[in-house]
Amino acid sequence: MKQIGAGISITGSGSAAPAAVVDNHALSRIVETSDEWITTRTGIRCRRLASASESLTDTATAAAEKALAMAKIAPTDIDLIILATSTADDLFGSACQVQARLGASQAVAFDLTAACSGFVFGLVTAAQFIRTGTYQNILLIGADILSRWVNWSDRRTCVLFGDGAGAVVLQASKRDHLLGFELRSDGTQNSCLQLPYQSQPQELIDGIAIAKGYYHSITMNGQEVYKFAVKKVPEVIEKALYRANLTVEAVDWLLLHQANQRILDAVGERLKIPPEKIISNLANYGNTSAASIPIALDEAVRVGKIKPGNVIVTSGFGAGLTWGAAIFEWGN
Ligand code: ACO
Repeated sequence: MKQIGAGISITGSGSAAPAAVVDNHALSRIVETSDEWITTRTGIRCRRLASASESLTDTATAAAEKALAMAKIAPTDIDLIILATSTADDLFGSACQVQARLGASQAVAFDLTAACSGFVFGLVTAAQFIRTGTYQNILLIGADILSRWVNWSDRRTCVLFGDGAGAVVLQASKRDHLLGFELRSDGTQNSCLQLPYQSQPQELIDGIAIAKGYYHSITMNGQEVYKFAVKKVPEVIEKALYRANLTVEAVDWLLLHQANQRILDAVGERLKIPPEKIISNLANYGNTSAASIPIALDEAVRVGKIKPGNVIVTSGFGAGLTWGAAIFEWGN
């Protein structure tokens, strides 16, 4: 095996979103809400929603192709594809379909499910394969189509979510640009945010009933998730900074899971990171779950906001409950 180095560089990014743009005014035609309520409580103005003919595989593949083009690597050079998603087209996983569509014939591919923390969990997982010298080129995609699972008559949740995909390429390098991370889970709070399978017994043969069920829509205790996020996210970021031997002064960009502008502002305040260092695009996308961080990263890179060598603190949080932070430098 060719040994290039066991450090990690993030060398490319890409993003994609479905064509349909739905603003808050449009939503006020299906549930009792208003642009004013949604904007002031969340910062969201519109979201992109997938049509019946746009699959998760389509959006994830489109984002991946752009990331590979930026990194200037061929699909056949990818060793591993990790697709962070909670809304695969196929319950067995969609990563292999993305692999086939990309023509990444040498890559092993699997899905990783950690809801809105999926991108951060995927980043750390990918990094382990590079640090052990196992793989050199990894494609990490965060993609979700939560609109399939939202209850469109529940105004407390349906206004929050949108669809999309973002991707990055991680490559082995001499210097390690992943400076620190910390991941956490707490299943005791699982009921705060769920998309649960509802089992219904069906008698198969005498005395044996199997479960034939369906998945419920997303249910969420918004206030609990809010309190959890503003408490736990600063803590986990501080831990990751400690592991990286850095202080907040060294941070160029705070790139949080794009759930709610008030959460972004509160975390920034607690960490004393000024608003101009906080990346936010949720006005245009809403909460795209595992896709939100890589979409925002890609947009900031492409407009020249994030520059090579910039230190980025990223943090995902959501269902599970799961949360985590990773600190990395952009580029080689
Ligand atoms: N339009 C109008 N009114 C609404 C709407 C709406 N869309 N939604 C709720 N309301 C009403 C409520 O019914 C309530 O009315 P009431 O006082 O008469 O009962 C009132 O507004 C206030 O509701 P709250 O739930 O207290 O509103 P809050 O200020 O907490 O904001 C929100 C709700 C935006 C959901 C907030 O709690 C939040 O952002 N929580 C975090 C959610 C989050 O980040 N989830 C994603 C995690 S990521 C993942 O893994 C998927």
